Amino acid sequence: MTESSSHWNKIRPQFDALPYPNQPLEKHPGQDPNYLAKHNSAIPYYLRNHQVTDSQDKWILDAGCGSGFKLMALAIANPRATLVGVDISPKSVNMAQQRLEYHKIKNPFYFHCLPIEALPTLPYTFDYINCDDVLYLLEDPAAGLTAMKSVLKVDGIIRANMHSALQRADYYRMQKFWAKVGCLEGSSTPEEMAVVRQTMSVLEDWVLAKKRTWKSAFETDDERLLANHLLRGDTGITMADFSALIQRAGLEFISMLNWRQWNLEELFKNIEDLPIAVALNIASMTLEEQLYLFELLNPIHRLLDLYCGHPGQGRDRPPVEDWPDELWPNTMVHLHPQLNTAGFRAGLEASAENLGLLPLDQYLKVDGQPIGVDSSFSSCLYILLSGPQSVATLVQRWQQARPLDLITLQPIPVERAFQTIQDFLMGLEAAGYIMLETP
Ligand SMILES: C[S@@+](CC[C@H](N)C(=O)[O-])C[C@H]1O[C@@H](n2cnc3c(N)ncnc32)[C@H](O)[C@@H]1O
Repeated sequence: MTESSSHWNKIRPQFDALPYPNQPLEKHPGQDPNYLAKHNSAIPYYLRNHQVTDSQDKWILDAGCGSGFKLMALAIANPRATLVGVDISPKSVNMAQQRLEYHKIKNPFYFHCLPIEALPTLPYTFDYINCDDVLYLLEDPAAGLTAMKSVLKVDGIIRANMHSALQRADYYRMQKFWAKVGCLEGSSTPEEMAVVRQTMSVLEDWVLAKKRTWKSAFETDDERLLANHLLRGDTGITMADFSALIQRAGLEFISMLNWRQWNLEELFKNIEDLPIAVALNIASMTLEEQLYLFELLNPIHRLLDLYCGHPGQGRDRPPVEDWPDELWPNTMVHLHPQLNTAGFRAGLEASAENLGLLPLDQYLKVDGQPIGVDSSFSSCLYILLSGPQSVATLVQRWQQARPLDLITLQPIPVERAFQTIQDFLMGLEAAGYIMLETP
């Protein structure tokens, strides 16, 4: 406990001096669907269980909530959930509470100034725990995960991330350099930041450390300088070690948050052309091992950002492409909640007037490829704005909008209409714009 306390005493002053993120109280995360989508707890639940949940009666913890900016996003994206914010920095907790009050957030919310390691002392359990940009600051991240697990409901989900040791290797070298020359001791001070800025300004531009780690923003932006060169307690990890850590905490990996951006296959021109021994090796690996390979080849992600939960809580389902025909008619189709916006409604109305492609990524960027939808499907998407619909209903609706084959002018047979809608829905589901819930 004493050792942890000294670690907390190293971390806390930095965030008391400058609660993170350093956003003015009045600033609202707005209704940016892309930002809100990352905080919608229904999305990882669907990824694991293929079921669509509502935020009614859900309890959400923001573990290490900082100045509360992301708590606002959690509140908006999960409008009926109860929120709890926890942080070791009293100034951050105060600011987070003031922020939610200032914006008259309707969700019930509670705050506690306490370390994540002490979560088991709270009288709550949670459906979803958001631990964003925090775990890498803990003295023992496995102990932090274990504490979160102890307050996680059986089918709850944790979103947690660690800094990538490979992607941030240059910053870790710089942090070692600053420690050697007497910085990074005690709390950060304006003098310390001035020392760093002056040292970097004297450094030759061709020096690798400067080329790779120095950004013009660091000249004036204290928060960014502190979060990179001078971050106390910052540790990086590889995907292999993060996986081991999750297992040590008795948790099970579910998925990366931005899993579409972790596709190992896409790193090769043609995976079929790999030497057979390499291909066989890769094929025999678990998903987590393959993610580590991705990271070794292409360490582009600052954060190893993932979902995990209690083991054995997932619900298997065959891939949508393999579903038997009889499963489709009663399958319920849910629009991604962050696509259900006034802007998208207006876009659909306009697209019904002007035939052509409706660019869905203009309304919500799920981290895949841009996707355009033929305006003949607008009426199907439109009805989803009012709530989930069965596939059979969408087929009927599409047939009403498009009764005739445009070439032969013959009625479109129902089998063809079904196939058209199935293909359309499979594409949207793969891209993350809808969720399909089987009966
Ligand atoms: C980089 S900030 C992230 C804040 C917020 N999660 C966000 O992403 O906007 C890290 C936060 O974690 C808090 N923190 C660090 N160690 C902690 C611990 N052991 N228990 C609770 N909070 C901690 C810090 O006080 C700080 O507010």
